[in-house]
Amino acid sequence: MTHRPATLLNVFLDGRERRKVGRLAAQGRRILFEYDPAFIASGLQISPFQLPLRPGVMVDDKQVFDGLFGVFNDSLPDGWGRLLLDRAVERIGIARQELTPLDRLAHVGTHGMGALSYEPDLSDSDRAPVVLELDAIARDAATVLKGEEGPVIEKLLKLNGASAGTRPKVVALVSADRTQIIHGPATLPKGYAHWMIKFPSAGDEATSGATEYAYSLMARAAGIVMPETHLFTAGKKRYFGIRRFDRDGNRRIHMHSLSGLLHADHRTAALDYDGFLKATQFLTRDVTEVERAFRLACFNVLARNRDDHTKNISFLLDDLTGQWSLAPAYDLTYSAGPGGEQTMTVMGEGRNPGPDHLRQLARKHDLRNAEAILAAVQNAIAKWSDHADAAGLATKAAKLVGDRIVPQVTKTASPAKKKATSNKPSATRTASAKNTAAAKPAAKPRAKGRRRS
Ligand SMILES: Nc1ncnc2c1ncn2[C@@H]1O[C@H](COP(=O)(O)OP(=O)(O)OP(=O)(O)O)[C@@H](O)[C@H]1O
Ligand SMILES: [Mg+2]
Repeated sequence: MTHRPATLLNVFLDGRERRKVGRLAAQGRRILFEYDPAFIASGLQISPFQLPLRPGVMVDDKQVFDGLFGVFNDSLPDGWGRLLLDRAVERIGIARQELTPLDRLAHVGTHGMGALSYEPDLSDSDRAPVVLELDAIARDAATVLKGEEGPVIEKLLKLNGASAGTRPKVVALVSADRTQIIHGPATLPKGYAHWMIKFPSAGDEATSGATEYAYSLMARAAGIVMPETHLFTAGKKRYFGIRRFDRDGNRRIHMHSLSGLLHADHRTAALDYDGFLKATQFLTRDVTEVERAFRLACFNVLARNRDDHTKNISFLLDDLTGQWSLAPAYDLTYSAGPGGEQTMTVMGEGRNPGPDHLRQLARKHDLRNAEAILAAVQNAIAKWSDHADAAGLATKAAKLVGDRIVPQVTKTASPAKKKATSNKPSATRTASAKNTAAAKPAAKPRAKGRRRS
């Protein structure tokens, strides 16, 4: 690991071709950005709400992301990846507090998620292929989470590939039969694809990978567009993997989180699904994309994925046509949510949102297929035990989740469906595949003026 303070960075969009986007510069605590005139002429809007194309220097005086515009903040790892960089620089005698957002972007360099790259590039340029042993990585990650130091930090930092999120994870190249998992080469070997594999965080259940996998099957059954997912097995352990949608073969695709797009910090802002659907409408100008957003809302609410913060939703840009679309879904799993509430409220309701709030949301956005979407999601959730079985989820863990999500969707289902699911609600236990209280460094403050039931 080498480090040099960065005061000026060139930003590139590495899509179908490499284009210079502009320049970032530090001025005290302020960060200045200026688009390149040729990029302005291209008409490609990489962040149309907060950083529309225009000449001249721009500054985010609100400092939502330490002065970085959201589109660049999206390139920065948070949670696990941030912890690794902090520890890695401390190992070479630099205090983490000395790192500026531009320094962090220089360490992302050409190895980021999405399609943006930064120069000077301080990311590890070693592209030698290494075969990944998932159990060894899980063990290494666990030692880092316990606070231990060592060269393993640099290794994990490289494998993390500047991905965001709380959990330890690696970006990997996976063979079509999913038996070969490697990291390193800049060019995909034939038959391989880009994947991301997740490992449990300190507060996660051992079954968290299988639960997330079962949720991916349930989401697909509900009609949600999901990337391919797979449970990778190593010894007795199983790790959740998801194919990356910001890569198509060797091509990089620009991705922007809802957080970055709206400058809504995922740790402090509590957006409403109404805002998410509005943003989808403005960005994509396509009602089928708004329906996709609504389907995700139904799923997150009814399947109790209450960690539905603004970084768990992204959009993709086609750099040929300039058209935006909602990215496939990710990070869907059972989650009790901060304080037991839905992070993203539904028409103001956070504590106990349900079908009626979802119907209100659909009416507000004039969605004609709302009832069919709601029914499809309810039917998929009613079959939870099938999805849990297909994921090989242990009976106890499956029941813990099923008790919380099945009864509420079968209440309104046909008698035949009711009979098919025998789970009874249990008032005494709390299930959490994703232990948000333990995994998240800071609790998310509630939105001002939120209506509580
Ligand atoms: N299939 C995918 N393709 C491309 N990027 C992805 C994919 N899945 C996740 N990501 C990106 O990686 C980040 C981390 O993934 P994910 O949200 O699954 O991890 P996590 O650690 O469980 O997150 P959290 O902190 O929300 O609990 C996401 O915020 C998103 O930017
Ligand atoms: Mg996430």
